[in-house]
Amino acid sequence: MPDLTGRAAIVTGANSGIGFYTAQALARSGADVTLAVRDEAKGGRARELMGPTPGAVHVRCLDLSDLSSVRSFASEWSRDYDGGLDLLINNAGVMAIPYRQSADGYELQFATNHLGHFALTGLLLPALVAVPHSRIVNVSSGAHRMVRRINVDNLTDENGYSKWNAYGQSKLANLLFTLELQRRLEANDLTVTCSAAHPGWAATGLQSAGPTMSGSWWEARIAELANTVLAQSAESGALPTLFAATTPGLPGNSYIGPDGMGEMRGHPKPVGRSDAAQDLQQAEQLWRASEELTAVTFPFDA
Ligand SMILES: NC(=O)c1ccc[n+]([C@@H]2O[C@H](COP(=O)([O-])OP(=O)(O)OC[C@H]3O[C@@H](n4cnc5c(N)ncnc54)[C@H](OP(=O)(O)O)[C@@H]3O)[C@@H](O)[C@H]2O)c1
Repeated sequence: MPDLTGRAAIVTGANSGIGFYTAQALARSGADVTLAVRDEAKGGRARELMGPTPGAVHVRCLDLSDLSSVRSFASEWSRDYDGGLDLLINNAGVMAIPYRQSADGYELQFATNHLGHFALTGLLLPALVAVPHSRIVNVSSGAHRMVRRINVDNLTDENGYSKWNAYGQSKLANLLFTLELQRRLEANDLTVTCSAAHPGWAATGLQSAGPTMSGSWWEARIAELANTVLAQSAESGALPTLFAATTPGLPGNSYIGPDGMGEMRGHPKPVGRSDAAQDLQQAEQLWRASEELTAVTFPFDA
């Protein structure tokens, strides 16, 4: 890890799992880190658990499934940090949960994993542009391969809802967003870059959250057991994100994952993605749909 003293970073979903270890490693390298969390009490406990770090750690409230919360977070953070933003880590997520709607009436996985981060990035873009070579990292998943294309005509409806398809759509959206954002950053001659990462299979609360929401205690127990036996640690799962965030000279639109068998565990390296995740037309369609659904226009498009 390079020395990050004097750098400002935001990590979404930093109170647990991969986000926790990402934020801790950045603060240990000297960055001033904001834990962007929906539950400030949990955020406070996470900050305590991180222990003393050379970089300051702050807790701020952000609910990605509520666009008014995303707007408040972005405007308050930008007001308090006039020096700009060096690193935005779009990490928070939910997986394979029963059908629920966000505060704005959209399917919850797509709203949290993609739309909230799309809006947050657009609203923080001026802060990112203020710092030369600032970076955005979107945390995707090998599960982006579960869907063959993004269904732009039905991104958030209950009709035909499948919890795994919805998760796959949202994680494919993370990669299409990365592709299109990087293209637009370059087209506007900006030095900000956007890359993506995935952690392989890491033992976190992600796998049991869906079964718990459905009231299926035995599925939650199986998920926990599988994590204990098969997954790598959450700390190891954070390494691809940290690699994408801090490796000097990493080109935009890189995608980093573990180097082990099936990209399930190991050390970080550039990895491949599905054809669907490289479809420029779909990336552009998703961009337009996301602008409409969030009412956020990126400043360079205005
Ligand atoms: N673990 C894996 O094997 C794996 C594999 C592939 C990809 N990923 C990706 O890695 C990322 C991190 O997941 P994780 O494994 O570290 O799971 P995790 O421990 O459950 O962390 C998810 C984080 O997202 C937060 N979050 C959920 N909904 C939110 C919302 N509406 N607003 C703000 N924060 C919200 C959670 O907050 P609460 O604590 O308040 O719920 C939690 O801090 C996700 O994007 C996931 O898709 C994980």
